[in-house]
Amino acid sequence: MLIPLLLLACSGLTTAENGLAGWLRYAPIPGAAHHHGSLPSHVVALNDSTISPVYTAGQELERGIRSIFGKSCNVHYGHFPHGHLPGFSSVVVGTLEAYSDAYGDLTDVPELIEGGFWLSTKGQHVQILGQNERGTLYGAFEYLSMLAQGNTTEVAYAANPDAPIRWTNEWDNMDGSIERGFAGESIFFADGGIVGNLTRAAEYARLLASIRINAVVVNNVNANATLLSPQNLDGLARIADVFRPYGVQVGISLYFSSPASAVPGRASLTTFDPLDDTVKSWWGNVTRDIYQRIPDFAGYLVKANSEGQPGPLTYNRTLAEGAALFSKPLQPYGGIVMFRAFVYDYQTLNESDWTADRANAAVDYFRPLDGEFDNNVVIQIKYGPIDFQVREPASPLFADIPNSNTAIELQITQEYLGQQCHLLYWAPLWKEILDTDLRADNKASYVKDIVSGQRFNKPLGGYAGVSNVGMNDTWLGSHLSMSNLYAFGRLAWNPSQDVVDILQDWTRLTFTLDTSVIDTITQMSMESWPAYENYSGNLGIQTLTDILYTHYGPNPQSQDGNSWGQWTRADGFSIGMDRTVSNGTGFAGQYPDEVAQMYEDIATTPDNLLLWFHHVNYTHVLKSGVSVIQDFYDQHYAGAQTAQTFVTAWNSLKGKIDDERWTDQLFRQVYQAGHSIVWRDAITNFYHNLSGIPDEAGRVGNYPSRIEAESMTLDGYKLYEVSPFEAASNYTAIVTSSNTTAGTASTALDYDSGTYDIAVNYYDMDGGASHYVLSISDEVVGEWTSNFKPHIGNQTAPRVLGHAQSSYVDGHSAIRITFSDVTIVKGDTLKIVGTPDGNEPAPLDYVSVLKPGMID
Ligand SMILES: *[C@@H]1O[C@H](CO)[C@@H](O)[C@H](O)[C@H]1NC(C)=O
Ligand SMILES: *[C@@H]1O[C@H](CO)[C@@H](O)[C@H](O)[C@H]1NC(C)=O
Ligand SMILES: *[C@@H]1O[C@H](CO)[C@@H](O)[C@H](O)[C@H]1NC(C)=O
Ligand SMILES: *[C@@H]1O[C@H](CO)[C@@H](O)[C@H](O)[C@H]1NC(C)=O
Ligand SMILES: *[C@@H]1O[C@H](CO)[C@@H](O)[C@H](O)[C@H]1NC(C)=O
Ligand SMILES: *[C@@H]1O[C@H](CO)[C@@H](O)[C@H](O)[C@H]1NC(C)=O
Ligand SMILES: *[C@@H]1O[C@H](CO)[C@@H](O)[C@H](O)[C@H]1NC(C)=O
Ligand SMILES: *[C@@H]1O[C@H](CO)[C@@H](O)[C@H](O)[C@H]1NC(C)=O
Ligand SMILES: *[C@@H]1O[C@H](CO)[C@@H](O)[C@H](O)[C@H]1NC(C)=O
Ligand SMILES: *[C@@H]1O[C@H](CO)[C@@H](O)[C@H](O)[C@H]1NC(C)=O
Ligand SMILES: *[C@@H]1O[C@H](CO)[C@@H](O)[C@H](O)[C@H]1NC(C)=O
Ligand SMILES: *[C@@H]1O[C@H](CO)[C@@H](O)[C@H](O)[C@H]1NC(C)=O
Repeated sequence: MLIPLLLLACSGLTTAENGLAGWLRYAPIPGAAHHHGSLPSHVVALNDSTISPVYTAGQELERGIRSIFGKSCNVHYGHFPHGHLPGFSSVVVGTLEAYSDAYGDLTDVPELIEGGFWLSTKGQHVQILGQNERGTLYGAFEYLSMLAQGNTTEVAYAANPDAPIRWTNEWDNMDGSIERGFAGESIFFADGGIVGNLTRAAEYARLLASIRINAVVVNNVNANATLLSPQNLDGLARIADVFRPYGVQVGISLYFSSPASAVPGRASLTTFDPLDDTVKSWWGNVTRDIYQRIPDFAGYLVKANSEGQPGPLTYNRTLAEGAALFSKPLQPYGGIVMFRAFVYDYQTLNESDWTADRANAAVDYFRPLDGEFDNNVVIQIKYGPIDFQVREPASPLFADIPNSNTAIELQITQEYLGQQCHLLYWAPLWKEILDTDLRADNKASYVKDIVSGQRFNKPLGGYAGVSNVGMNDTWLGSHLSMSNLYAFGRLAWNPSQDVVDILQDWTRLTFTLDTSVIDTITQMSMESWPAYENYSGNLGIQTLTDILYTHYGPNPQSQDGNSWGQWTRADGFSIGMDRTVSNGTGFAGQYPDEVAQMYEDIATTPDNLLLWFHHVNYTHVLKSGVSVIQDFYDQHYAGAQTAQTFVTAWNSLKGKIDDERWTDQLFRQVYQAGHSIVWRDAITNFYHNLSGIPDEAGRVGNYPSRIEAESMTLDGYKLYEVSPFEAASNYTAIVTSSNTTAGTASTALDYDSGTYDIAVNYYDMDGGASHYVLSISDEVVGEWTSNFKPHIGNQTAPRVLGHAQSSYVDGHSAIRITFSDVTIVKGDTLKIVGTPDGNEPAPLDYVSVLKPGMID
């Protein structure tokens, strides 16, 4: 029974919140006091060892019940004496085995597998019984999640994981930076070693345990050999120590040529050939040294022969021989090797060869080796054949190596997808991939059933989520991005769950039980992927971001003309990758027959993957009846339009959630609304320019409310030809003539007198904080400083955007600021004074004078 929302007054709205507690806030619920009678008054945790997850479960239950209901519980650690439970109401939490030993067998508990648990709230004693200690803690978090959502229904059920591997990967570098991290510095590393203060690492483990993640690979896949020094292994052991009470294990990424690198305290060999005996001995010693310190060490993650990394191919050995170098020494300890399938040669791919295709690489490399990997090797496969794009088909490799263990690599952080500065709830994308039926042997072969090991009857398999949390209080850089971390854990445990249900549980736990808030966040989140796809790259052309620089803003040109292989093959008439067997790269043929045939034929390829599989003219008519080019135009406008509605939606939550998080997120939604217009204009203008085909709706290239900065009267400003050209309206911006003296741009406003919103598009570059003053007939409308950059480690710095910064006037730095309800009189002079700073010459693109509700 849900508790009616009567007593909202005590819902803690006034408490300042910074996001650090994530979804484990244990916020007081309305009507809490009414429940005191029916809640347990004691917790019996069947283990008195402080490093046991069962002990942690006891602590969490006490903390949660106190915080949610204001009710204190006594906690008893260790089993209650004399073989029977206390006479008062209690939560009994422990392993099933410990329970049976103390109080005798329970007959109604179904079979539990590794990490599973039994939860019963029936009767005087709530039972939370795990198959092991970690599973016990999962059960405690499940019970607390129910309570925190006001759900006091009587339940009795068992829950078991779908897959044994539920890991996060952290791309943390040892200097404390994080590759594709957008939330400050590492919680694990600094200055080449492990940080002394592991408080945040422990808090992270707590969040992860609550979503049933069982291991973390703490360092970047682009690994550093010095991690293996004895001193750093001691540091890893400290991380393992703070993780252990949460049932989370430590794993690490390895640098393949470590034996031939300079690692303090270790022999340096002249080779890293995987078949060389001294190399084997070297890795054997590393593995031994790790397990001496960390007996429950999870295993290794290996990125080899990928993007310039060394690997077995360096010695003409197979990838399987490379994996064996690690799986053999791990075997006696029960450790596993996650071997990444992200192997491709980025140097020799040649776009002039119509059949060349990076997407083919994983299957080309791994299919011939199927059956050659040891049982404790798991092939870790990115969800799509390229790289975390906004839309990709499921990787065919899942279906092509039935004799190997596999795991799916998903990305929680938002490389390619807005870097936590654009709202993007990824779970619907993951779900679409997990629910893809690859039809191996013409039988149901869902990706989720392959990676769980069920489809091909494999012992290992599961999920790796690239998380990249940082020191920022929000963990990922934005409050709403945390739904992705939460959803990752939930889907890894049970991929059949509904992504809206998951999102709504997260929203209740993170924000409030208020249904209007839940509805609003649901709508925004569920629209976020389609919106981003629409304004970044639709029809399967991929995220048209700058792949040569920051993977953030628009730059479609960067996809082609290089050997990275994320090609669009766009020319003046046509676009798309021909991945057919009949005339193209043959990629479609890597799928089992039924799926291969579907993608081979334009008629059966879904529109949203059309340009992924086929090269067509811009005039090609889609199933929707619209041409490819017109659909580009239409969807980019639609996507940017949707992004504007997120601001309105979020605004409606004022007062319904705490001001602190509301203000933080509003800032991001306003930013996204502006940057989505940058994306829209860049992509539509790029293809308009390339194809010469006009937009039937007359929008592209025609902006009636804009005043181009270059057309204003300039004093101390000069014209600047922007690169890529499409990152500026009319391809042109203005910059100050000197980088020390202010410039002025002014113009007479030829608009009817009235009230308008005035938007200014400018560029916020790295390396400077220019200052701008906007005035109308000498009355200041607003002033601002261009420095929304991360001030890493500086808690007092102003609000920041954590996306990768750009040193240029381009699509990454392009940004908009809007002043609402400005009264103008026809003929007024609009003036912007820009004062440069450092390397940033106060760049300006245009001003939009917008009637209320207008978007341009
Ligand atoms: C209690 O916890 C410790 C540490 O995790 C573990 O070694 C021990 O086996 C546990 N005891 C029981 C009875 O589960
Ligand atoms: C309460 O939680 C149980 C167990 O998770 C679930 O089955 C049930 O649907 C929930 N009830 C409500 C009203 O959310
Ligand atoms: C590896 O770490 C060492 C010590 O911190 C550092 O000097 C070196 O530059 C790093 N190597 C790479 C490739 O990052
Ligand atoms: C350790 O880190 C936590 C969280 O960042 C902080 O609150 C605490 O003050 C730090 N402790 C010390 C001794 O620096
Ligand atoms: C591995 O350790 C053993 C025993 O400590 C030592 O004899 C051997 O030389 C080491 N191997 C390498 C390659 O350093
Ligand atoms: C690499 O191995 C292949 C197959 O074992 C062999 O044909 C080829 O000659 C080898 N190349 C080199 C450079 O050793
Ligand atoms: C077939 O491939 C050629 C390049 O080899 C390409 O120019 C042509 O457009 C393709 N034909 C079709 C029907 O896709
Ligand atoms: C695609 O456009 C080219 C160039 O205009 C034209 O020659 C060709 O016939 C068109 N192909 C189709 C299938 O319309
Ligand atoms: C567009 O930019 C060019 C210079 O690149 C300039 O001559 C022209 O006036 C601009 N058009 C508008 C409408 O501002
Ligand atoms: C932190 O940022 C504020 C505001 O930008 C600045 O005044 C202060 O000097 C910075 N502190 C440090 C230690 O960098
Ligand atoms: C964390 O992110 C918030 C929200 O963007 C920002 O205001 C704050 O400055 C960031 N803090 C750190 C330490 O990076
Ligand atoms: C002025 O700008 C130029 C070009 O961006 C740069 O090289 C130079 O260092 C800047 N000067 C100062 C004082 O920042």
